[in-house]
Amino acid sequence: MKAKGLFIVLEGMDGSGKTSQLEHIKRYLNEQQIDFLSTREPGGISVSEQIREVILNVDNDMSGLTECLLYASARREHLIQKVIPALQAGRIVICDRYVMSSLAYQGYGRELGKAVLDINQLAIDVDGQQYWADMNIYIDVKPEVGLERIMSKSGEREVNRLDLEALEFHHRVHQGYMELSEQHAERFVMINGEQDEQHVFNDIKQVLDTLIQQYHV
Ligand SMILES: Nc1ncnc2c1ncn2[C@@H]1O[C@H](COP(=O)(O)OP(=O)(O)OP(=O)(O)O)[C@@H](O)[C@H]1O
Ligand SMILES: [Mg+2]
Repeated sequence: MKAKGLFIVLEGMDGSGKTSQLEHIKRYLNEQQIDFLSTREPGGISVSEQIREVILNVDNDMSGLTECLLYASARREHLIQKVIPALQAGRIVICDRYVMSSLAYQGYGRELGKAVLDINQLAIDVDGQQYWADMNIYIDVKPEVGLERIMSKSGEREVNRLDLEALEFHHRVHQGYMELSEQHAERFVMINGEQDEQHVFNDIKQVLDTLIQQYHV
């Protein structure tokens, strides 16, 4: 049986503004007294936060496939322990990154291709149902813009193992997001992330309002 909640995911390159926008979204929904759960990937629960540390630690060297499997492990556990119970209770779940991140970073960035889709289909299959996001809100910035934001404010957010990849890697990830937005057009909305933060949020708010309206019908 399809869970009755609403599963919204924020996607985009490193430094595109996902975490900043999640703060705006939380404030907005709280103001409207709309119940929701906000969470993040990789992480969101203890075991997945521990896997996150292994993946992002700059001192850890690992193959792309290992990285992909670790993300998928963190994803499955977080999905089972936190996301599905909330959806089954009919709640709105807003998650910072999900499957599209793996398809973009490991599929395109690490050039693992279809293996990433296969692994993720297994990871998000629970009791015979695949839990895809109802909507991916993709915040688009050029790779250089996101990296510049992260590097110039490295005091606020630790630079991680994936940030340190060559610029070509980030360009492949960006190209990946572009292709994914066409392949999954019905579950993808693209927001211009190179506007100032408030304008980005205004665009996201319109999408949110529509999603929530449809969900309450
Ligand atoms: N629209 C914007 N214009 C300029 N700077 C921004 C904008 N949105 C966010 N920033 C700044 O860019 C930096 C990265 O933003 P944020 O952490 O929200 O990105 P992110 O998408 O969550 O990145 P990551 O994927 O690495 O977690 C922060 O210092 C934030 O203040
Ligand atoms: Mg973030």
